[in-house]
Amino acid sequence: MVLETERTILRRFTEEDAEDLYAYASDPRVGRAAGWRPHVSVKESRDIIRSVFSSPTEFAIVDRESGHVIGSAGFLPRPAVGRDTSNEIGYSLSPTYWGRGIMPEVVRRLLRYGFTDLHLPEIWCAHGTGNLQSQRVIEKCGFHFVFSQHLSTDLEKDRLTCFYVLTREEWERGEGRHG
Ligand SMILES: CC(C)(COP(=O)(O)OP(=O)(O)OC[C@H]1O[C@@H](n2cnc3c(N)ncnc32)[C@H](O)[C@@H]1OP(=O)(O)O)[C@@H](O)C(=O)NCCC(=O)NCCS
Repeated sequence: MVLETERTILRRFTEEDAEDLYAYASDPRVGRAAGWRPHVSVKESRDIIRSVFSSPTEFAIVDRESGHVIGSAGFLPRPAVGRDTSNEIGYSLSPTYWGRGIMPEVVRRLLRYGFTDLHLPEIWCAHGTGNLQSQRVIEKCGFHFVFSQHLSTDLEKDRLTCFYVLTREEWERGEGRHG
């Protein structure tokens, strides 16, 4: 499955993407916000591609202009948090590309994929408190806040995480498409 947006192509990761992934996942600003340690080698990035990014609903974000992988986005499983948030979008982007509205563009495409191709009734998204950049993406894409919960991540034992949802009905009404 390949999805397209104005500035990106979303496709499955391959092991050849390990160097591009390492180039941004080794930057501590990326993992710190998302709750994981910076990658320490291209080999570690390749291992992540083989394990975490092997899911068919996880996409490499390819910049159309350069042809490089500049981020990841997709539906990733999260261990149970007390209610079913299983259709949850997660993402990260190379800091070189921050602030250009790329992730909202990608998330909107994933919402269309999730609601029309996967027939999901609702889609979740979450951020750690203080991750204002991710919070803004979530708000601009039309999600609304539902609950927060303390969760442990690779970096913190007790990170307060805020969960948001967008239902198919809300999405069909056009919420978040132009934010
Ligand atoms: C969260 C993330 C994907 C946002 O992607 P993006 O394409 O930059 O999103 P946007 O361009 O819409 O910017 C979102 C907000 O970030 C802020 N921002 C923009 N550029 C920034 C920069 N260089 N430094 C810090 N904040 C910046 C702005 O407040 C912006 O909100 P606004 O549009 O209301 O002004 C990206 O910041 C990232 O990869 N962060 C690290 C990983 C992460 O947090 N993943 C999500 C885990 S929940």
